[in-house]
Amino acid sequence: MEDVYDKIWEKAFSYQDKRGDRGHARVTLEYAKTLLASEKGDEKIIIPSIILHDIGWSRVASDKAMIIFDQKASPEEKRAARLEHQNKGVELATRILDELGYPEDLSKEILDIIFQHDTRQGFISKNEGLTRDADKLWRFSAIGFDLDIERFKITPQQNYVRMDKRIAEPGFFFSASAKQIARTELEKRKQEYSLNN
Ligand SMILES: [Fe+2]
Ligand SMILES: [Fe+2]
Repeated sequence: MEDVYDKIWEKAFSYQDKRGDRGHARVTLEYAKTLLASEKGDEKIIIPSIILHDIGWSRVASDKAMIIFDQKASPEEKRAARLEHQNKGVELATRILDELGYPEDLSKEILDIIFQHDTRQGFISKNEGLTRDADKLWRFSAIGFDLDIERFKITPQQNYVRMDKRIAEPGFFFSASAKQIARTELEKRKQEYSLNN
């Protein structure tokens, strides 16, 4: 089975990180593997889901994609961009999984996860929750934390306070492991930037 994950990675590679999210695909895949080891989800679902979740950004016009980080953009405009990357992602992921002959029942669950990974309220399954946890953990990683500072034009201290609040927010993370990883990562960011509590 492992071999097929490499093939999915290769087929998806040219569509990755297209919203300027340098390293997003690689870093979120690493978090997904860590969560799989501690939370025991189904890797046949979670690994393809995390690899393919954001490839739809490659099919969204870049000015529309960057609206997500524009403080002046309306919630409706941001939602429209998110929906578009999810829909385009499902199209591309369907093609990739079909080309590889990935089992249909597994593909269906993967596509369901991708379809609303940024807009769904609540979690529909452990596999979905862990995939979305891996995606969100990106914002606590060194690379994602730095990128948010740049894109939202905020200070490291402001980003620390903001992300610290998110950990405790009900419904933000699905798993206890993700919360723990987020706390550990944030502590590292605090050291790196010599931040206060
Ligand atoms: Fe996304
Ligand atoms: Fe993502």
